[in-house]
Amino acid sequence: MATILVTGVSTGIGRACAARFGSAGWRVIGTVRDPGRHPAGIPGCESLEPLDLEVPGSAEALAARVLAGHGCPDVLLNNAGMLQFGPLEDLTGEELVRLYQVNVFGQMELVRALLPAMRERRSGVIANVTSLGGRVVFPFFAGYNSTKWALEGLSEGLWHELKPFGVRVKAIEPGFVETAIWGKVLPDSDDGLPGRKEYRPFVKAMRGFEASITSRTTPEECADQVFKAVTDDTDRLRYPVAAYAKPMLAARRALGDRAFMRFFHGRWTGDRRIP
Ligand SMILES: NC(=O)c1ccc[n+]([C@@H]2O[C@H](COP(=O)([O-])OP(=O)(O)OC[C@H]3O[C@@H](n4cnc5c(N)ncnc54)[C@H](OP(=O)(O)O)[C@@H]3O)[C@@H](O)[C@H]2O)c1
Repeated sequence: MATILVTGVSTGIGRACAARFGSAGWRVIGTVRDPGRHPAGIPGCESLEPLDLEVPGSAEALAARVLAGHGCPDVLLNNAGMLQFGPLEDLTGEELVRLYQVNVFGQMELVRALLPAMRERRSGVIANVTSLGGRVVFPFFAGYNSTKWALEGLSEGLWHELKPFGVRVKAIEPGFVETAIWGKVLPDSDDGLPGRKEYRPFVKAMRGFEASITSRTTPEECADQVFKAVTDDTDRLRYPVAAYAKPMLAARRALGDRAFMRFFHGRWTGDRRIP
């Protein structure tokens, strides 16, 4: 029976992936920040392990427990992550450090801790859930998107480093998926928007643009696409999945960077000028 370690299975894409792999007969080890908060377990997961990416050393400890208790997983699905919204000028240094710790350094720690076992076994898949925002940058998501660009770079670098050892690397790039992540940082209305007043009209415009995206993929549909990507037995690296990912990347390729950015800027601002 193949084994997958999925980080962040409490909600959203991770939870749906746990159910998808579990129903296909995989042994799924899921991580949550506090297993005590999930006494009934998570559908599809054989076991739940604690992981808080914000805490250095948590990923290393997880890897040690998994290796000792279950052996080397066939697949690591680095899914857990956090979103951040607001003008970069208004994010604090602490917020940015936290964002990078969770979305980049914690993920690197987990990969590095599992790598020796995968390399020695000469097989395995490391699938990093990056984002469409790891290829395109959305205004006021620069902090968050930059972490996903970092994860894209990490994935491409690892693809080269691990190919000779039979370990395959995948970057899963979701567009818009209907999960709790958006509500964690984006208010329902224009009240309570982040950022100082100079940015306010633009932050408001971006919130409106984001709210206008109604055709989001369900986590279950996204999980289906993740399942196919992870099990396709190829050395393909990048998988744009879910709503808008493929069309936006195709538009960027077709228009070129500069024209795409000008077009997109016009779309979300409605061509507002600085007052
Ligand atoms: N939804 C989208 O449209 C979209 C688009 C592109 C990329 N993504 C990426 O997809 C992944 C899953 O996101 P989602 O949309 O499914 O969001 P979600 O429902 O908010 O799930 C995020 C998961 O990550 C966990 N997590 C957050 N901070 C953590 C930490 N410090 N340590 C350990 N686990 C932590 C959460 O656990 P708690 O419940 O404990 O917070 C939760 O299980 C993320 O990497 C996200 O960046 C999502």
